[in-house]
Amino acid sequence: TNDLYVMGIETSCDETAVSIIKNGTEIISNVVASQIESHKRFGGVVPEIASRHHVEQVTVMIEEALHQGNMTITSIDAIAVTEGPGLVGALLIGVNAAKALAFAHNIPLVGVHHIAGHIYANRLITEMKFPLLSLVVSGGHTELVLMKEHGVFEVIGETRDDAAGEAYDKVARQLQLPYPGGPHIDRLAHEGEPTISLPRAWLEPDSFDFSFSGLKSAVINTLHNARQKGEEISPENLAASFQASVVEVLVTKTIKAAKLYNVKQVLLAGGVAANKGLRWELEQAFLDFPDIELIIPPLHLCTDNAAMIAAAGTIRFQQGKRSGLEMNANPGLDL
Ligand code: KG4
Ligand code: ZN
Repeated sequence: TNDLYVMGIETSCDETAVSIIKNGTEIISNVVASQIESHKRFGGVVPEIASRHHVEQVTVMIEEALHQGNMTITSIDAIAVTEGPGLVGALLIGVNAAKALAFAHNIPLVGVHHIAGHIYANRLITEMKFPLLSLVVSGGHTELVLMKEHGVFEVIGETRDDAAGEAYDKVARQLQLPYPGGPHIDRLAHEGEPTISLPRAWLEPDSFDFSFSGLKSAVINTLHNARQKGEEISPENLAASFQASVVEVLVTKTIKAAKLYNVKQVLLAGGVAANKGLRWELEQAFLDFPDIELIIPPLHLCTDNAAMIAAAGTIRFQQGKRSGLEMNANPGLDL
């Protein structure tokens, strides 16, 4: 047949994920082995532990993805793998697994940028219409990416310090919440009111960059000062105030950029896209701009997965891009 089957492999952080997609948009199988339980007691991802888990899981996940899709490796047309950015030791496992498969079965190999993957998760639920703007918010990234055509990315704004998810996780840690803290803060925030005044980092008037480390420090200082004075701080109100600050800056800059670049769509991407406050405020804000389509993928496509890598890889494959067996994990890969 003329159908195109692409296998995606993702091991950049703490999930070992493999997926097969058909013609760039249809998920045939999508399996994820999460390591969260192993990293939890350390309060964050431990690179060495991540690599070990990937080694144990990657072949199992490849077999599972083929099995669930009722397919054999010989019917795969291309293998897409996350080349970077991410933890180098973690990336290497996926890259080497992909290279071994590609070499053994003579299948074309395509390296994919992890953020391109997050953005292309949206193509699994809708047609992408250009120009579009993507707000990528994860544990490692906070970026506004402009796309005028498939496969071409222009970063118009990015964080100058902490990523949004990183700020969530660090604030959660201060409140003695388990890792990853984002969902816990989100839940607490909905039980509280934003009564505590915290800063918003707007930066220069025309900048689409972000900064969350000042906000994080303000939260830590608020807790510290209260403790010194022997005062009680409501964790719910603090979470609500923190979330209000993060969401207000993300939404305001996204709307401003969407108008400036006259985009047809705004795509949300990355693990923080699971945030209920962010989803709600974006939806409300875009009610005023009915000409701009707001796309928010389902949760399992927002967090790290391999279907998104296969989706981004399909476009690269169709554009004739190939990676050779000399491909290496690149923790600092540019989009
Ligand atoms: O995209 P992702 O799964 O992994 C990275 O590539 O980083 O994102 C994980 C990040 C973590 O920082 C986690 O705390 C955050 O997404 N996160 C959330 C929520 N769910 C996950 N942050 C805020 N609110 C949530 N509901
Ligand atoms: Zn990610």
